[in-house]
Amino acid sequence: MALAEFLKSLDALLTAASETFAAIDSDEALESARVAFLGAKQGQLKATQKAMGSIAPEDRPAAGKRFNEVKQQLEATFQEAKARLASAGARGPDELTERFDPTLPGLPLRIGRLHPITQTIEELKDIMGRLGFSVALGPEIEDEWHNFEALNIPAEHPARDPLENFYLAAAKTTSDGPLLLRSQTSTVQIRVMERTPPPVRVISLGRVYRPDTADRTHYPMFHQMEGLLIDTQVTMADLKSVLRLFATSYLGSDVHIRFRPSFFPFTEPSVEADFSWNAGWVEFGGAGMVDPNVLRSVGYDPERVTGFAFGLGVERLCMRRHGITDIRDLYRNDVRFLHQF
Ligand code: DAH
Repeated sequence: MALAEFLKSLDALLTAASETFAAIDSDEALESARVAFLGAKQGQLKATQKAMGSIAPEDRPAAGKRFNEVKQQLEATFQEAKARLASAGARGPDELTERFDPTLPGLPLRIGRLHPITQTIEELKDIMGRLGFSVALGPEIEDEWHNFEALNIPAEHPARDPLENFYLAAAKTTSDGPLLLRSQTSTVQIRVMERTPPPVRVISLGRVYRPDTADRTHYPMFHQMEGLLIDTQVTMADLKSVLRLFATSYLGSDVHIRFRPSFFPFTEPSVEADFSWNAGWVEFGGAGMVDPNVLRSVGYDPERVTGFAFGLGVERLCMRRHGITDIRDLYRNDVRFLHQF
């Protein structure tokens, strides 16, 4: 074989191999290309090397030099293709990293939202704020003075039964009695009146705790909205007006309110407050005129000031509004449920 012809075949081999390796997109294609070009037995490089035997001895050094160059370049293109495949594999078959299309809409972020009870509380604060009530806070761990005694609930009252309350066995007893998780937000009435002279116009929203077995309508923790208004010449008509305004604002302008006689140690007279709901009446809480004993316990003069108080169940309000029928749904923390509000 003439030298020129040999060099031409080497060039052709190099071009063909470079094109093949550059287009390779799988491990199988890489392997068959390696065998075809670089294979030790049948490979094209090997065949070319054999052809060198027929070249005139004086041309052999030039032929050998070029052969070695081409061999090195072929090895290099093979290694290049191999490295390219390996790095594509490491990145995985993720279409986004392979081919990024900036015109596609983004993936929506799942943004959290406020719990339905928190949303209800915010709305109740808003409504009552417009009626002139500011928000007061009180602790969830209470003493017997604030949870019972000052609210005119004497020691022998069944509401103080240890089985009806979460007493904190490990906690130390304070000068205001043993500690418990508050069973009602009425405690905050006392705390507010102890630190503020009349007039008072507050609401307090928060958790209360009672050892009830959970069912559709009970849960050992729930929320109440307490209201307290103290001034001169406050009457039951004021109480009913405020609760009616509240009910129509929260539940709808066609909602009516009804008082049924009842008893609470901290109010006299006391009522249960019902709101009309779908042609029936639903009890939303208790209310009444603040008992003179309560006013005296915080140092107010019952001859000078009077007032009303009420306590409504927040879960009940929220559930009626949204058509929730099982209180436990609110506390299962199932985001598929919570996401709907
Ligand atoms: N504290 C009562 C309860 O937990 C609710 C209540 C009734 C609150 C009458 C009041 C009230 O402020 O005047 O059942």
